[in-house]
Amino acid sequence: MTKRMMSFILTGSLLSISALCLANSGPAEMDLKARHAIEGKKAAVVFPHKLHQDKLDCVKCHDTDQGGALSIKTEVMTGMKNDFHKKICWPCHIEMEVPKGKSCKTCHKK
Ligand code: HEC
Ligand code: HEC
Ligand code: HEC
Repeated sequence: MTKRMMSFILTGSLLSISALCLANSGPAEMDLKARHAIEGKKAAVVFPHKLHQDKLDCVKCHDTDQGGALSIKTEVMTGMKNDFHKKICWPCHIEMEVPKGKSCKTCHKK
């Protein structure tokens, strides 16, 4: 095999690895209400995943930098004390002083 062939194959596999990584970063936006089949009257939260990924390390929210499962367990899914409020979204918005980070309309649009 020639050197050129080798580097062609290597570049090809590197490209497919990075394509895989991109494919694994999850959707740019997610309707968390639909995803978790949450019942209630509040407008669904469409989570801007990409916006958060651009600012934060994956491990701020996931166990690994591959994403997938969240680093918190979601058990309570109804009412104001739901685990999204209490365990993940609000604590970080408070800590990072996100403007209007606890305003209902920031997350529950409409
Ligand atoms: C930082 C984002 C964020 C903010 C700010 C926020 N919520 Fe939520 N809330 C969520 C997420 C995520 C869920 C779960 C997904 C869903 O229901 O769409 C949720 C779910 C809820 C639920 C349970 C589901 C339902 O429809 O009954 C209620 C009630 C609720 N929020 C009320 C509020 C109120 C009232 C405010 C303002 C004081 C507020 N939320 C502010 C993210 C937020
Ligand atoms: C600010 C929090 C946050 C950050 C940072 C974050 N994610 Fe996520 N990610 C979420 C939430 C919330 C979900 C939805 C989880 C759920 O519904 O259980 C999710 C879901 C995912 C999913 C699953 C999508 C699916 O369709 O099942 C993948 C894959 C993922 N994230 C990858 C990443 C990667 C890779 C990074 C870093 C580049 C990252 N995430 C950064 C919050 C975050
Ligand atoms: C680890 C920190 C962190 C976590 C966890 C987090 N956020 Fe945020 N969020 C941020 C930061 C930082 C910003 C401000 C981004 C910017 O500068 O525009 C933000 C902004 C937002 C915005 C406003 C986007 C805009 O258009 O201005 C929404 C909506 C939002 N977050 C929803 C959520 C929801 C829903 C959750 C829980 C599922 C969540 N966030 C969890 C850090 C976090």
